[in-house]
Amino acid sequence: MKVLVVYYSMYGHTLALAKAVAEGARRVANVEVMLRRVQEFEAVDEKINENDAARQVQDQQQDIPICTVDDLRAADGVVLGSPTRYGNMTAQMKQLIDSTSALWLKGEMEGKPAGVFTSTASTHGGQETTLLTMMVPLLHLGMLIVGVPYSTPGMIHTEARGGTPYGATTIAGGQGELQPKPEDLEIAKVLGQRVAEITVKVRS
Ligand SMILES: Cc1cc2nc3c(=O)[nH]c(=O)nc-3n(C[C@H](O)[C@H](O)[C@H](O)COP(=O)(O)O)c2cc1C
Repeated sequence: MKVLVVYYSMYGHTLALAKAVAEGARRVANVEVMLRRVQEFEAVDEKINENDAARQVQDQQQDIPICTVDDLRAADGVVLGSPTRYGNMTAQMKQLIDSTSALWLKGEMEGKPAGVFTSTASTHGGQETTLLTMMVPLLHLGMLIVGVPYSTPGMIHTEARGGTPYGATTIAGGQGELQPKPEDLEIAKVLGQRVAEITVKVRS
């Protein structure tokens, strides 16, 4: 059973969540995890060279393959992660989703479990709007949305950190100066494990 964890990350916060999601999915027997990054835009890639922090994060990701439509086709379950941009997913992630019309035409993603995760700069920067709007195209594709139940440790809190029933989250800070809290990573692992467990149940 293949679970695809596909993400976009410029400063590493969504990358950290993606690795935690992948770790959680690997806990499940008979699951092979495919970790993939979203293709960067050429114009953005050139700009990244002017920003040391972003360049370092890009360099760290060179060994992670770029996600293809065939990866989505091969996956039995998918977890998608994108930083929040104006309360929504990044254009890079949307471009990947918009390249799936061949999958949609044949209903190839129908019945596959899917989860989502995001990072925002600020506490109220739009985590829920990003997660909920990321779900919309997944529903068009016929996927089965998986969230994070409130029985998960760390979900009910009033601290400056992530954790939503719609998916895993973290807070990066205005300059990207924060790192995901241990609780954010644990919740991301639970999301990965939950998508993997449901994938095994639904697709066996
Ligand atoms: C164009 C743009 C729009 C953004 N919009 C938001 C936003 O609506 N809310 C927010 O909290 N952060 C916003 N951010 C900050 C990003 O969410 C932040 O850089 C990201 O969470 C870091 O994730 P990464 O380290 O995986 O790249 C925006 C950043 C950019 C470049």
